[in-house]
Amino acid sequence: MIKLAPSLLSADFSDLGKDVKLVCDAGADYLHIDVMDGHFVPNISFGACVVNSLNNIATVPYDIHLMIENPDQYIKEFVTENTAYITIHQEACIHLNRTINNIKDMGIKAGVSINPATPVSTISEVLDLVDLVLVMSVNPGFGGQTFIEKSLKKVKELKQIREEKGLDYKIEIDGGVNLENISRVKAAGVDIAVAGSAVFGANDISKRIKDLKNV
Ligand code: DX5
Ligand code: ZN
Repeated sequence: MIKLAPSLLSADFSDLGKDVKLVCDAGADYLHIDVMDGHFVPNISFGACVVNSLNNIATVPYDIHLMIENPDQYIKEFVTENTAYITIHQEACIHLNRTINNIKDMGIKAGVSINPATPVSTISEVLDLVDLVLVMSVNPGFGGQTFIEKSLKKVKELKQIREEKGLDYKIEIDGGVNLENISRVKAAGVDIAVAGSAVFGANDISKRIKDLKNV
């Protein structure tokens, strides 16, 4: 079964705790937490104090997606008892190998993400180090954008490299995932699908989570 990580970016910020509880109870596998700095992406979301305020409410682990410049400066703030993955962007890291090791040194699983215009070859030297590769299927910055179909080619490529080299990273996709494309996402080899508007835009959020997982 594909794992589902609802993106809190599309949740009700005026009652975040309620939405977090709802998706945890409905069978979400992770909480996808989009941190945006207004520099790496043209939007600002929230920081570590908001994330920490959820620690006693969340019953599934955090999948933290840092869309920020200078991630090394902030990684530590996102290390909580609930943090499973911290993912940084290849495009934001000059010393990618060092940043990945910094995350792992804190006892957290490390993910690396690539934007739609970034090829898989740019992360070939770190694939043996990471626990997760996050393929962006929209340009990061906003929820509710249209899925870029070409991203599935990168998922297949990553799956093939994983097999050929005997590696064990998970493959995650983020952006524009919905009921219409989730079966193609799964067939391409995605282990964890992020969904923001497809989850929180539904009338029955609980049912939508089950429908997305049961493809
Ligand atoms: C985009 C974020 C995504 C986004 C997904 O920059 O990384 O996680 O919230 O939202 P949807 O599923 O609505 O595209
Ligand atoms: Zn994200």
